[in-house]
Amino acid sequence: MPTPIRDFIAGRISGGRRAVETIATHRTFADVILPPRTRAALDQALSQVQSHELIFSQWGLGERHSSGLGLAFNFAGPPGTGKTICAEAIATVLGKKLLSVRYAEMESMWAGETSKNVAAAFRMATEENAVLFFDEADAIASRRTTGAAQAYQRESNTVVNVLLKELEVFNGVVIFATNLAVNFDPAFERRIRTHVLFEMPGVEEREKIWQVQVHPAKTPLGDDVNFRVLAERYAVSGGDIKNAVLKAATMAAAEPGVDAAKRIHQWELERAMDEVVAGKSVMQQSLFGEAEQGSEDRLMRAVEAAELRWRKSAQATIVIAALGVVLGAIAVVLAVVR
Ligand SMILES: Nc1ncnc2c1ncn2[C@@H]1O[C@H](COP(=O)(O)OP(=O)(O)OP(=O)(O)O)[C@@H](O)[C@H]1O
Ligand SMILES: [Mg+2]
Repeated sequence: MPTPIRDFIAGRISGGRRAVETIATHRTFADVILPPRTRAALDQALSQVQSHELIFSQWGLGERHSSGLGLAFNFAGPPGTGKTICAEAIATVLGKKLLSVRYAEMESMWAGETSKNVAAAFRMATEENAVLFFDEADAIASRRTTGAAQAYQRESNTVVNVLLKELEVFNGVVIFATNLAVNFDPAFERRIRTHVLFEMPGVEEREKIWQVQVHPAKTPLGDDVNFRVLAERYAVSGGDIKNAVLKAATMAAAEPGVDAAKRIHQWELERAMDEVVAGKSVMQQSLFGEAEQGSEDRLMRAVEAAELRWRKSAQATIVIAALGVVLGAIAVVLAVVR
């Protein structure tokens, strides 16, 4: 019989995305180009991970002690800055799989069952000896509400309590990915060993990201391709660069002619990036536009209502004036008749 927990373990798909997924990682830190401060924070996290592994697994202290063993990190930063690849790279360094839980999806798919599923995720990670990665964990990390009048608030408080308990006994590495605006629950914050801030890449990093997004030998680039120019022109994330490279490659592949003669040119990379940037601003504008449109609509409705009121009161004034004239005329007629 299907149960939420079983669905969860089977990695039920929601809207084409798995809420829970075990990733056999292959990406390494060589695939990631980070600004110096992000790199330094990540190196620190990595050395903690390595000594944790040594102490608790190889030296057996994990079997001797039953609490305070877990190592939790928070990767915070804007979309496309490399949080997920770095979680994969950490798992690769440890020679482990990555158990990725999309927290927001898990919460919406199994309302009322989230805390059970959080506990199940920790169980699975233990069984599979995997690094546990809570992606989109903003809701889980945020402050518990006091009072908790609403059912969903009570549920999210329970989830955080369960999470804290599991973190206490889990003998492994847990990584949370959040955006920058999370208001951390203080109890949760105490369990986080290191926050790694994923900054947007600068020009130097962007140039290197462009380079790693193409295959050094197999991707056919035109002679005119200049990654430095692209890096200087577009202040975007690594995720945007990846999307632009894939778009440009699709354009180049669709060109007429034999495949062997096809090349990705600078103009294709520029056009692709323009489209990626435009796509993002359309999304932002339509959100903003809707809000503006909404307030414009409200304003128009208020103006129309005011006009209507004015017209009605003008009509009423005319009617009263006309009645006055008629009554006056009747009074005059009556006076004459008498
Ligand atoms: N610093 C980087 N170096 C190299 N490639 C990058 C970097 N950042 C992003 N990319 C590319 O963009 C893709 C998306 O990045 P990733 O999924 O790691 O971003 P994220 O920070 O997890 O984003 P989100 O918040 O949207 O989940 C990666 O698979 C990689 O190809
Ligand atoms: Mg991600």
